[in-house]
Amino acid sequence: MKKIILPAYNKNILRAIYSLKVVDDKLPQPGKDEVLIKVHGAPCNPSDIAFMEGGYNVVKSLPAVPGFEGSGRIIDAGEGAEHLIGSKVSFFGQADCDGSWAEYVCVNKNEMVVLDNAMDMDQAACFAVNPFTARGLLDIALLRNNRTVVQNAAGGQVATFVRQMAGELNIQVIDIVRKRESMETLLKNGAQYVLLEDDEHFDKKLSELCLKLDARLAFDAVGGSLSGRIFNAMPDNAELVVYGGLSTKAISGVSTMDLIFNDKVISGFNLPAWRQQLDDDYFDEISHEMQQQFIQKNYQTRIQGSTGYENIVKGLTGYIRKMSEGKILIKPKV
Ligand SMILES: NC(=O)c1ccc[n+]([C@@H]2O[C@H](COP(=O)([O-])OP(=O)(O)OC[C@H]3O[C@@H](n4cnc5c(N)ncnc54)[C@H](OP(=O)(O)O)[C@@H]3O)[C@@H](O)[C@H]2O)c1
Repeated sequence: MKKIILPAYNKNILRAIYSLKVVDDKLPQPGKDEVLIKVHGAPCNPSDIAFMEGGYNVVKSLPAVPGFEGSGRIIDAGEGAEHLIGSKVSFFGQADCDGSWAEYVCVNKNEMVVLDNAMDMDQAACFAVNPFTARGLLDIALLRNNRTVVQNAAGGQVATFVRQMAGELNIQVIDIVRKRESMETLLKNGAQYVLLEDDEHFDKKLSELCLKLDARLAFDAVGGSLSGRIFNAMPDNAELVVYGGLSTKAISGVSTMDLIFNDKVISGFNLPAWRQQLDDDYFDEISHEMQQQFIQKNYQTRIQGSTGYENIVKGLTGYIRKMSEGKILIKPKV
């Protein structure tokens, strides 16, 4: 089998990408409760970028095969998982072992979703993480009874799912983007409130909108000073939920007084932790509901293209230049 390996972490993402190598290896053997998947495809997500930079919370022994999620078919299984042979699956795993940028991968049977046969396998490659993340974030809004949410990196996939699911729940969204072209795309696609990060009146506009729409919950994928500006713009009792660190900067500029006197809080969201606290039946129900939305094409991950292993450098550099245009799928063969 062929697989892609990262020989060393590198803070310079371009150098990390250029260091990726395609190598041959023997087929891995599934252990107890594990399955062997013939991979259809796997996306490159921001978490993979952070992983290759050595800046993610998952650190693997090197050299390692990157890729935390993907789709494929189970072709073999260890003890306790034999009944799954033949199933189509989406998988997501962060253990210290080879990831999804390979022709074959072993994963634990608890790290995957068995798919309806009608699921498109490209869409399935991006199913296990982002749609569930959007759902988990909106569960917070429902629990807090917030009818308006603020989100940044609004041209990205998680944010796109948040906007769509929020619409179905009658939750309004205030979107924040960093590029004017993303603002135009969002407005063209029906987003109602879109702010540009570097608008000179950004803070004032956001604060007025938050007051007007009673926005007391924000989903933050960026970090850095933007987090502080969003936090400060929200009214009393607001919560900033941090789920990504795209800027790679520590959160800054947070009003100390707001934290002490105005009941405002900052919290974090992590998909695996959210999944762990869910009842299995509830998770299966959500998974089934969402698969039906994908099969009916109501939900779709934007995919800007696919790349074979031999063109991985071109594929990944293209993705990091224009992330809002969609995922790049890494496939054994295109
Ligand atoms: N906590 C969790 O469990 C969890 C789960 C899933 C995803 N995430 C996180 O969610 C975030 C979004 O993931 P995704 O898959 O939706 O991303 P994506 O579709 O690949 O898009 C990334 C988006 O972020 C924007 N962006 C990139 N760097 C930025 C920066 N420094 N400042 C502002 N905007 C920036 C991009 O805009 P441009 O087009 O302008 O580049 C693009 O719209 C990532 O941080 C990811 O790690 C977390």
